[in-house]
Amino acid sequence: MKLGIIGSGKIVKDFLSISKYLNDIEVYAISGTERSKTIMEEFKKEYGIKNIFYTYDELLNCEVDTIYVALPNNLHFEFAKNALENNKNVIVEKPFTTNYREAQILSKLAKEKELFIFEAITNQYLPNYKRIKEMLPLLGDIKVVQCNYSQYSSRYDSFKAGVALPAFDSKFSGGALMDLNIYNIHYIVGLFGKPDNIEYFPNIERGIDTSGILILEYKGFKCVCIGAKDCKAPIANNIQGDKGCIFQDTPTNVCDGFKLLMNNGESKEINDNNYEHRMVNEFVEFSSIIKSNDLEKCYSLLEHTLIVSEVQTIARSKSGILFPSDSI
Ligand SMILES: NC(=O)c1ccc[n+]([C@@H]2O[C@H](COP(=O)([O-])OP(=O)(O)OC[C@H]3O[C@@H](n4cnc5c(N)ncnc54)[C@H](OP(=O)(O)O)[C@@H]3O)[C@@H](O)[C@H]2O)c1
Repeated sequence: MKLGIIGSGKIVKDFLSISKYLNDIEVYAISGTERSKTIMEEFKKEYGIKNIFYTYDELLNCEVDTIYVALPNNLHFEFAKNALENNKNVIVEKPFTTNYREAQILSKLAKEKELFIFEAITNQYLPNYKRIKEMLPLLGDIKVVQCNYSQYSSRYDSFKAGVALPAFDSKFSGGALMDLNIYNIHYIVGLFGKPDNIEYFPNIERGIDTSGILILEYKGFKCVCIGAKDCKAPIANNIQGDKGCIFQDTPTNVCDGFKLLMNNGESKEINDNNYEHRMVNEFVEFSSIIKSNDLEKCYSLLEHTLIVSEVQTIARSKSGILFPSDSI
């Protein structure tokens, strides 16, 4: 894969730090604003990136085959669509788009053009998550699932001081649901599919959810997803069935080792993750799927992304959290 990156913020720094594990991916070009010139030059030097561009058109017209959209949430749709229109495969950071309408447009376009499009959502590709999925039948009938991703954000201090950074700004499709709870939605939808009912109870400050509780109802069981950027608590994910429970104490985007705790007293600790950094597995899979031209696999992953997008859109619309592109 010949990769072109748009954006040079926190997630790009993370991605570049793992690029040494990605033998099939050449980071060929990076594109961003003049504001980010210094950091892009540093990246170019440290990671041997061939080109820096200051317009997106130049990136789209160079010889990359895949674009990694690593921009604030509100820009994912426009930049991904533009990439598809220019016959590039796309990897879009989470959350895929601002809303379900945009997600459907990207999906349709990618399929029409037989291009690859992926949401970069770490948990779906982590060995521990795949193992949890396999082990679910051991738990008996699922009754309750709880995922708590609460992380006090240093940006919340700025927000309280009156500065609205993208993560706390509805103009940028920010907020706790889009930033953190989205991982919990992926985690649960990946295990159980589309919920029958969705309710979101947000704490809203200045028009944005700084934390909130999402309830996903399935036939026979309920899931509680907590996402908070304004307070913190020990991370805990519990999948509880009538025969046992799976307990994990790392966030749903990291999925480190977990415990299987059976009602009969048996217990087991499992850790199948094979890389220290959560992002390696997803990019290994993206490049392998593209290399083997496995559009079917890509589009089945895309179906999962579409369900998650629908869930977050319903959750927001029912609780009155609307972003500018929701009203188009
Ligand atoms: N997968 C994960 O674990 C994970 C973790 C964190 C974030 N993310 C996702 O990654 C995305 C980016 O987050 P981040 O934390 O990296 O944000 P960030 O640090 O704020 O970086 C955003 C980047 O976008 C650039 N940018 C903004 N507007 C642009 C435009 N019009 N044209 C070109 N570049 C533009 C910014 O450049 P300037 O500063 O020059 O404007 C900056 O380089 C978000 O969608 C977030 O949800 C994913």
